[in-house]
Amino acid sequence: MSDDPTPLDPYADDPDVKLREHIYDGIQEYDQKLPNWWLWTLYIFIIFFVIGWVAYYQVGIGRSDGERVEAQIAVIDAKKAEKLKALMGELDDRVLWEMSRNKPMIDAGQATYKQVCIACHAPDLDGSGAGPQFVGLPLDDKEWKYGGTPMQIFEIVMNGSPDKTKGMTPWSSLGGDTVAKVVAFVLSYHPVPENADATEPGETVEKEDG
Ligand code: HEC
Repeated sequence: MSDDPTPLDPYADDPDVKLREHIYDGIQEYDQKLPNWWLWTLYIFIIFFVIGWVAYYQVGIGRSDGERVEAQIAVIDAKKAEKLKALMGELDDRVLWEMSRNKPMIDAGQATYKQVCIACHAPDLDGSGAGPQFVGLPLDDKEWKYGGTPMQIFEIVMNGSPDKTKGMTPWSSLGGDTVAKVVAFVLSYHPVPENADATEPGETVEKEDG
């Protein structure tokens, strides 16, 4: 029975096409080579899989949006750190005093002050002197708890108060240049000392407006 090809076999005359010997439920199968289009679909899939695996897992192409954003943030942070390092290299008391007489710098610093510092240091920089709701120290007087040279003030604003129980948190997240401008704004309330290199702010000066 099994070696008896069916009379309906359309390939009976083709020596390349063999009919398999077994019969299941009355069905006989040809032993054909798979068509090329089918094989190529399989090969192309395998090639794509290998390329995709190498690209995603080894090279890192095509990562998720979240991973890409994180990678971007790391690059931006590195750039910020570099910028801050460059700024810190050239920032000193004299530069901050100069900034404190520069209108665009003061205006930029005032904008930041109004955004983040005003809640504790009061609109007129008088801090607790302006009322008990302002918990910050006055910034317009001659007394400086942590030193009054421009760089010491810059330091406190960047890194916060050494006394963590107080509300003066670090503001380095604003960026070194923004902090330098807000310090320039604070210094604009003070006269430039004779020796602007290493002197504390002198007498409080009257300002027309805050
Ligand atoms: C949440 C309230 C709060 C905010 C906001 C705040 N400060 Fe302060 N600041 C304080 C307190 C409280 C102190 C006193 C810290 C201490 O005694 O250790 C202080 C201290 C300071 C000092 C030191 C004063 C001294 O006498 O040595 C400076 C300078 C200062 N702040 C500037 C700023 C600037 C600039 C900003 C905005 C970028 C700011 N602060 C935002 C609460 C605040």
